[in-house]
Amino acid sequence: MRIKIVTGDITKIRVDAIVNAANTTLLGGGGVDGAIHRAAGPKLLEFCKTLNGCRTGEAKISPAFDLPASYVIHTPGPVWHGGNKGEAEKLAGSYRNSMLLAEKHGVKSISFPAISTGVYGYPLPEATAIALKTIKDLAKVVTIEEVVFVCFNEATREVYQQIAD
Ligand code: APR
Repeated sequence: MRIKIVTGDITKIRVDAIVNAANTTLLGGGGVDGAIHRAAGPKLLEFCKTLNGCRTGEAKISPAFDLPASYVIHTPGPVWHGGNKGEAEKLAGSYRNSMLLAEKHGVKSISFPAISTGVYGYPLPEATAIALKTIKDLAKVVTIEEVVFVCFNEATREVYQQIAD
């Protein structure tokens, strides 16, 4: 399984599945959630209304509509409350459950944003370590061939690169 770290807009990356850092309503929001809904078009929200939300750390799948992908996998990451409310396990769950759901749908390439590190306030180094470890631990058990971590800015990319090396 190849792991790539890039800087850019996740809605422009060509993969089978794009992961959305959603909220538990799955009814859209700002940040990457807003960007993905804008790029996918209004049909995405219509579809998400049929999903009845999603628990933190779990994942649900939808078509990608106008996005250059086959699927969007929606996962609400944890809101950071200082680190003693099970945030690490929930964040790992978001990465793991997104990968397992993608695997179930025959996805071969998948892209992740830096889940929870924006509005949800999760400290970037800790979140990045969880993201990379969770994905690497799954490398041997999934047939997914490529995971792309899409950083929205250079500062984020540097943290990913440092921790990945
Ligand atoms: N492509 C890639 N990454 C992006 C993009 C984009 N187009 N837009 C934002 N990001 C990055 C942010 O810079 C941050 O590093 O995604 C990461 C996650 O930030 P948020 O989008 O704020 O997501 P999160 O912290 O998980 O908070 C989720 O925000 O938008 C609402 O509905 C969403 O309530 C939910 C909450």
